[in-house]
Amino acid sequence: MRPPEIFETDRLRLRRPVIEDAEAIFAEYAQDLEVTMYLTWKPTGKLEDTREHLRASATAWREGAAFGWVVLRKEDNQLLGAVGVRVDGHKVELGYVLAKRFWGKGYMTEAVQAVVNWSISEREVYRIWAVCDVENPASARVMEKVGMKREGILRRWTMHPNRSDEPRDCYCYAVVK
Ligand SMILES: CC(C)(COP(=O)(O)OP(=O)(O)OC[C@H]1O[C@@H](n2cnc3c(N)ncnc32)[C@H](O)[C@@H]1OP(=O)(O)O)[C@@H](O)C(=O)NCCC(=O)NCCS
Repeated sequence: MRPPEIFETDRLRLRRPVIEDAEAIFAEYAQDLEVTMYLTWKPTGKLEDTREHLRASATAWREGAAFGWVVLRKEDNQLLGAVGVRVDGHKVELGYVLAKRFWGKGYMTEAVQAVVNWSISEREVYRIWAVCDVENPASARVMEKVGMKREGILRRWTMHPNRSDEPRDCYCYAVVK
């Protein structure tokens, strides 16, 4: 699979990250407890951890295991968030995050739609899926708006350590061909 390094939508540019994105990611959302409430990692307060995450993502891209893009607003090049996919045979798993001050403007729906459209058009991909915490309705709504269908609840599926010390129930969404 050779994903595009850049997606262009009406308002957004998604591009392959560079290590210099670490400062903006760190400042905009990686330390925000509200943004990370239903994510799988905890803010650490260390910029170096964001850099390490970007280095690991670059390795995963080279190996073809996972691909990520930072989401930029075209009009001012502001970094808003990120979208990523993890590839497992014919299945592609989605993840996404947006800085809080940009929530509620349809940005993530626009970004995720571009990545879903590309993924489903890949010959070997038959299923694009993602989970979200049952208490994360904004994320569930993004998936519904891009055409993914709720398949059920995966009970005790994932740790969201900023929310609880115990594994959490998640909705599972997918679009298939
Ligand atoms: C989830 C997230 C990416 C959404 O990004 P966004 O750009 O604000 O999303 P959009 O504006 O495209 O769409 C959000 C939708 O959720 C709805 N929504 C937001 N909060 C809601 C709530 N508490 N209850 C119900 N719906 C809600 C909005 O009304 C909108 O739907 P609409 O267009 O039908 O009105 C963003 O909130 C985020 O980054 N959250 C933290 C990280 C995260 O949870 N990532 C996903 C992990 S599974």
